[in-house]
Amino acid sequence: MRSKSWHARTLGNRPLAPETLMMGYGYDPHLSERSLKPPLFLTSTFVFRSAEDGKAFFELAYGLRKQRPNEEPGLIYSRINNPDLEMLEDRLAIWDEAENSLVFASGMAAISTTLWAYARPGTAILHSDPIYGGTDFLLKKILPQFGVHPVAFNAEGGVEAMQTAAETARKLAPVAAVYVETPANPTNGIVDIAAARAVADSLTADGRRPPLIVDNTFLGPLYQTPLALGADIIVTSLTKYVGGHSDLIAGGCSGSAAMLQPIRGMRTILGTMCDPHTGWMLMRSLETLKVRMTAASRGAEQVADFLAEHPKVASVWYLGFLPQTHPDREVFQRQCRGPGSTFSFEVKGGEAEAFSALNRLKVIKLAVSLGGTETLASHPATMTHSDITREEQERLGITPALIRLSVGIEHPDDLIADLDQALAG
Ligand SMILES: Cc1ncc(COP(=O)(O)O)c(C=O)c1O
Repeated sequence: MRSKSWHARTLGNRPLAPETLMMGYGYDPHLSERSLKPPLFLTSTFVFRSAEDGKAFFELAYGLRKQRPNEEPGLIYSRINNPDLEMLEDRLAIWDEAENSLVFASGMAAISTTLWAYARPGTAILHSDPIYGGTDFLLKKILPQFGVHPVAFNAEGGVEAMQTAAETARKLAPVAAVYVETPANPTNGIVDIAAARAVADSLTADGRRPPLIVDNTFLGPLYQTPLALGADIIVTSLTKYVGGHSDLIAGGCSGSAAMLQPIRGMRTILGTMCDPHTGWMLMRSLETLKVRMTAASRGAEQVADFLAEHPKVASVWYLGFLPQTHPDREVFQRQCRGPGSTFSFEVKGGEAEAFSALNRLKVIKLAVSLGGTETLASHPATMTHSDITREEQERLGITPALIRLSVGIEHPDDLIADLDQALAG
């Protein structure tokens, strides 16, 4: 159970670091039989002490009245709230430097619920490109069926591309949201979050500014904090680095209580929340988030160094290698605390050469997804981004020779040896 006394975020004057708070924040063992770890609350519903309590809890949950001073929302029903999810949300908010977080059944559940909450028929969504394949499908194939028009700008196009697309969007319809994925999947193209916020500001109409939503899956929460850079809402596939073991699917959404309010309401009605068991697993994962991401990032640097020198490799799109002259370099240095451990590289040749290398891998697994303890390799053009036309793929840099790697926490020398033998074929 949750308790106020276990919400201390400081030791005297000393603010406690997120990795310290992950070990118990928001949980009081003395309210749960002194169990060191939070119990798993596998229940669909919660018993009210009195009918008056039930009434008061519903009034608050359904926004029928304002929260009273020191009033905690009462537990009602696991589609609305659940102790495991509330503790997880409190802890995720710490990493994202947010007032509140919400957790969902998947990254796509977080993204789609957020866009349903803000988009309306006859509005436009300004978004970066390339973008995760599922989000691309939602924006370009599903939302248009409901009268919501996507307007894309190339993540590599800098502020100018963003401003040009914003003008197009403004002429088309009121802009409901600005949606950015940075770094982009799979190219690692960087969008300047502060500049995207200025663009969102410039799209204010009738006193309403479209929210800036940032997909933080690739670097978050350790290496990028979009809210501190001007974003309003962070969406994250928790399936990736936060879950971290490739054994669950979940999503998160962080921001101010006011920004999350319509998303919370939409989640309750669509039923897109995370389940308690997955929530419990995610709390366990959060305890090791920093060590996992740090180790993976160190390994990725070594693997990228090796690939950059390999005669069969044409290019390596590792953020740590951005040349001084690259326009993304300054944005990367200002916006990110590290290059993370997911990046792509091109083999010399095309699809046949890429497939040959992928098929020879022995330690590294051939699978989509990223952010797990194990290293995964995939072929974006024929897998995660196969839904995009060939011409569009070429324009976005998703070439047939491109392989995406998510480096895990194995010994980097073993990964290098595996890639060496795979590329030798
Ligand atoms: C950047 C990004 N955003 C969102 C998603 C969707 O997340 P999920 O698979 O948890 O729905 C993914 C999945 O690969 C992703 O890579």
